[in-house]
Amino acid sequence: MYNRRKFLLSSLAASIGISLPLAGKPIAGSPRIRAGSRPAIISTWNHGLAANAAAWEQLAAGRSVLDAVETGVRVSEADPDVTSVGFGGLPDSSGEVTLDACIMNSAGDAGAVACLKNILHPISVARLVMEETPHVMLVGEGALEFAMRNGFQKANLLTPDARKVWEKWKKTQEAGKPVGSGHDTIGMVALDAGGDLAGACTTSGLSFKLPGRVGDSPIIGAGLYVDNEVGGAAATGVGELVMKTLGSFLVVEMMRTGISPEEACRMALERIAEKIPLKSDMQVGFIAISKAGETAGYGLRKSFEYAVIKEGRNQLLTASALL
Ligand code: GLY
Repeated sequence: MYNRRKFLLSSLAASIGISLPLAGKPIAGSPRIRAGSRPAIISTWNHGLAANAAAWEQLAAGRSVLDAVETGVRVSEADPDVTSVGFGGLPDSSGEVTLDACIMNSAGDAGAVACLKNILHPISVARLVMEETPHVMLVGEGALEFAMRNGFQKANLLTPDARKVWEKWKKTQEAGKPVGSGHDTIGMVALDAGGDLAGACTTSGLSFKLPGRVGDSPIIGAGLYVDNEVGGAAATGVGELVMKTLGSFLVVEMMRTGISPEEACRMALERIAEKIPLKSDMQVGFIAISKAGETAGYGLRKSFEYAVIKEGRNQLLTASALL
């Protein structure tokens, strides 16, 4: 599994012209740094390392911070071994892979798609919604038709491995009682050398969810929020908890009061723990970056990891946990 994943990531990296760094090793080529502003990129989970590397290469090549986050999360979307995002994502209870994604730029513009099927890169459709329509979100069939009208091709996103996991799950479940536990959405927020921020978030959502279920990831303010004057935040984990508290917006609003990204993430998790009865297997993680380039991640429970790249050094960090 490890070798296959490494091979696929290397092929993907080669196809988009990047070299994947080992965690902690500096990457050749650094984004131009203007006085007072240090580029930084933060993203959720282990797969954030490859995504960060691709995003950093974009900044180093002088591309916009929006290009950076879009390119970064596309790496996870295309990776069949990331079973909670895009191609290879685990399906809903009926066996369909449905995707949620959103994106925000430094002007505060936003685009999103929800319950989108058969499109490899929902984040790019979300960007197109933001840039080419007067709307923020398209869902389901309408989102698919919009994508196809704009040149996206249909793809089968259910890999043989994901199908096997679903078939095994089906045998052990009572009909009509879908449950979901897998949840490692990629959320990414980046700060460029000019001090501009952008963010992206994309997922196949909870595995074996009820057909039609949409989580936090495409909801602006829940799965992702960016305010270019303050900072940005993204969420991963059980989307229902994040939606009920508008978690990423809350993190950014906490940072607006002057507290650090770490304190802000922790306070948003405290809000969840105070307001919502939690089951023992429910995890939520927040990542945040301030306008000054401070970064942090925080988990409701142990096991949340996030990736940060600064000065070309790409590191996987274990987040502190609230509970
Ligand atoms: N956080 C991803 C989801 O709940 O769908």
